[in-house]
Amino acid sequence: MKEVKVGIVGLGRLGSVHAENLAFKIPGCKLMAACSLEQKELDWAKTDLKVDFVTTDYKKMVDEADIEAVAIVSSSPEHCWMIEYALDAGKHVFTDKPLGCSLEECKRAEAAVERHPDKLFFLGFMRRYDPSYADAKAQIEAGKVGKPYLVKATGLDPEACVESCIQFCKTSGGIFIDAASHDVDLMRWFLGGEVTEVYAAGTTFKHPEFAAGGDTETGMAMLKFDNGTVAFLHVGRTAPHGYHTETEIVGTDAHIRVAGIPWKNRAMIFDANGACQPIIENFPQRFAEAYLLEMVDFIKCIQEDRKPELTVYDGTKATLVTYAITDSFHSGKPVQVEYK
Ligand SMILES: NC(=O)c1ccc[n+]([C@@H]2O[C@H](COP(=O)([O-])OP(=O)(O)OC[C@H]3O[C@@H](n4cnc5c(N)ncnc54)[C@H](O)[C@@H]3O)[C@@H](O)[C@H]2O)c1
Repeated sequence: MKEVKVGIVGLGRLGSVHAENLAFKIPGCKLMAACSLEQKELDWAKTDLKVDFVTTDYKKMVDEADIEAVAIVSSSPEHCWMIEYALDAGKHVFTDKPLGCSLEECKRAEAAVERHPDKLFFLGFMRRYDPSYADAKAQIEAGKVGKPYLVKATGLDPEACVESCIQFCKTSGGIFIDAASHDVDLMRWFLGGEVTEVYAAGTTFKHPEFAAGGDTETGMAMLKFDNGTVAFLHVGRTAPHGYHTETEIVGTDAHIRVAGIPWKNRAMIFDANGACQPIIENFPQRFAEAYLLEMVDFIKCIQEDRKPELTVYDGTKATLVTYAITDSFHSGKPVQVEYK
């Protein structure tokens, strides 16, 4: 199998995870170049990952590094122009979620993908690669739940990380845009429909900074789909026990619950307080396997000249829905979702 040479942009919280996977854990892949605005991250790539070509200039990496593919894990507002630039330069592209931060940006990415049908475009909704979610999907397709008609999704960041969430909330576009796109993607995947209407609300009890920043500490939304199915979303920033991601798919014949309690492992301590089992602490821990498996598939898609299941249009749809939820939260009214 031919070796795929990759450059990565973004070496932050998530980019560092992808970079280590690309450098050491994926057969048939060589991490050749890295780009970040942070010199210390570039130094890390050079010394720890043994990447020779490091730069703060994304265009320079795309134009000059010996690469045929780019992994984009930069801040969200940078995604779409970077996708366009890399595709126009003849590179295959992986981009992490969200596709873009507005409909205009997403359309720009769509147009670039349409201009280059011979290039691979791979959207990083990695939960589809998580073995538990993949198993849930397989059970649904095998008819084990009957007709799935409701998805309940919970995504709570740990209180231990609340300070960074408070900082981030001023520029993230709000909790729904930042945190709900994976859940929206899974809802569309499991229910097999498109969102037509959303209604959202939120509340803040522990950290008034969220409300002062125009955001909410806890958010909820109800979603209606064009095939008559429905979904409920609960996102938050203050889980006292750890990183809590939980999903339930309700069907006419059965329910599937993924990670009802987000155990970190199977070790339980029995002491004077009773029996206690540790909980997942953060997203890299919970989804380590999914991040690796999606990147393995990205490289395989290039080697086998194969397109992935997720398309650029899935990215646009998830973005539109999280923006509609945010509009509903701010207006207090139901919002129709229109796909233009
Ligand atoms: N799939 C997931 O579960 C998941 C989890 C976390 C973050 N993300 C997404 O990954 C992306 C990165 O998030 P993060 O938390 O790692 O962010 P971060 O702030 O920790 O890191 C951002 C990185 O992008 C680089 N960067 C930003 N603008 C750049 C530019 N113009 N040129 C070159 N480098 C640039 C920064 O130098 C930094 O290395 C975001 O889009 C986020 O939504 C996805």
